Amino acid sequence: MAQMVLEGVSEFLGEAHGLLIDGEEREARSGERFDVLDPATGEVVATAPSGGPADVDDAVAAAREAFPTWRELAPAKRAELLWHLGTRIAQLADEFAQIEALDNGKPSGEALAVDIPLCSEIFRYYAGWATKIEGSTIPVSSGSFHVYTRREPVGVVGAIIPWNFPLLMCGYKLGPSLAAGNTVVLKPAEQTPLAALRLAELVTEIGFPPGVVNVVTGFGETAGAALAAHSDVDKVTFTGETTTGRKILEAAKGNLKRVALELGGKSPNLIFADADIEAALQGTYGAVFFNQGQCCIAGARTYVGEEVRDEFVDRLVRRAREIRLGSGLDPATDMGPLVSHEQLQRVTGYIESGIAEGATVLVGGERADDPDLASGYFVRPTVFTDVDHSMRIMREEIFGPVAMVASFASEDEAVALANDTPYGLSAGVWTCDIKRAHRVAAALDAGTVWVNTYGWFDVAAPCGGFKMSGYGKELGEETLASYLRTKTVWVDLS
Ligand code: NAI
Ligand code: MG
Repeated sequence: MAQMVLEGVSEFLGEAHGLLIDGEEREARSGERFDVLDPATGEVVATAPSGGPADVDDAVAAAREAFPTWRELAPAKRAELLWHLGTRIAQLADEFAQIEALDNGKPSGEALAVDIPLCSEIFRYYAGWATKIEGSTIPVSSGSFHVYTRREPVGVVGAIIPWNFPLLMCGYKLGPSLAAGNTVVLKPAEQTPLAALRLAELVTEIGFPPGVVNVVTGFGETAGAALAAHSDVDKVTFTGETTTGRKILEAAKGNLKRVALELGGKSPNLIFADADIEAALQGTYGAVFFNQGQCCIAGARTYVGEEVRDEFVDRLVRRAREIRLGSGLDPATDMGPLVSHEQLQRVTGYIESGIAEGATVLVGGERADDPDLASGYFVRPTVFTDVDHSMRIMREEIFGPVAMVASFASEDEAVALANDTPYGLSAGVWTCDIKRAHRVAAALDAGTVWVNTYGWFDVAAPCGGFKMSGYGKELGEETLASYLRTKTVWVDLS
């Protein structure tokens, strides 16, 4: 495998990278580092500094100090830096894809098709917005005044991101924050710190002023908790588990900082009998197995119209059986390992609970133990039937390559089943009946509804959940607005 790694990647992995604070690479104050594992082998590929509360203090202080300069910088200059960053990411796509494969386990081809171009595009899209943040003039009736609004950055943003899209999540948080004129302290997930450390090098190379972007690698309970609680952070934006989101909300209340939470899901995917079944099958395959099923928007609950259920399930199972497991570095790999041993245990634990509660495994249902996979965190793509909403596998987020397939008899039943969840992140609808498509899209309690497609993202289209999937949007103009505060100015003209 070693010979497949690009030179730039082995060079990057060969050096011990520091935290990025105030434009400098630094070791954590504790001097400690933690291991970064290749989930396909369980081997250590690098180490990262174990940042803690003292490092978060330093990073927040640097971000605070950099804030006046950054917010006053000509918008066109901010735009130029963001655009440049997007371009560099695209130029280094092959290297980033390998870094993601080694750190997260995902197939590098998927990273090249999705994570990296979207991340690059996010920086370019928000670069465009930097010069278009406008207030308004307001015609008031209560006297002779010139009233106008200014849209200002909120200040210092703390961004806490997960491991499922390590580079892409950096873009989700940094793009709109920086375009709006905020400075940022970014804490990547402890499982996958490498993309953020590589990005930190680019930030320095491109010439962002020191302190505008700070990267503190470290653990959730230490570095993450300190950032969420910090009294000089004005907004915390988080993506991850719902229970962690609740902790962050609790920690944030001290200084009433703004909170954006992009949390878990248990998204339904409805396949009506009148759908293009081949297209629905393709879409469902991606909805459940893309990124090893480690997607907040995974369409984990598949509901199929009774009339076509058997045929659909057969075909889905056949496809699942053909999936080739392997290292994300290997171009022949369809599906990589789960991100960590902890995640492996979690997912296999859910599979066991499904079996114990009476669901039927049609394919998969176990860790992969082939000699070349046994030391990695591989789970075989799994399809369950005979499932109902009393089972944990139908209620809780599994975050692995596990599909649950149930059926429905009517449109009303489909909608009721779809909405019977505490989550509300996304949903899929497959039908050739245009009236039904819009009717069902309106009835679903989910922040994104895909009709005759699934999991499509574009930087211009906002996404984000309802209910226990959190609040606050990602991407699009709406997200930019969430990183701004509105000031109203009254000038007496009388
Ligand atoms: P997590 O929510 O604990 O971790 C996400 C980020 O939050 C990481 O950077 C972590 O260091 C940080 N964090 C953890 N505890 C924190 C705390 N007390 N204060 C501040 N920051 C904290 O997710 P975890 O434990 O890695 O995965 C567990 C489950 O969460 C997964 O099985 C999956 O179901 C769900 N998850 C959902 C994601 C999504 O995109 N919605 C992403 C990652 C995980
Ligand atoms: Mg956790």
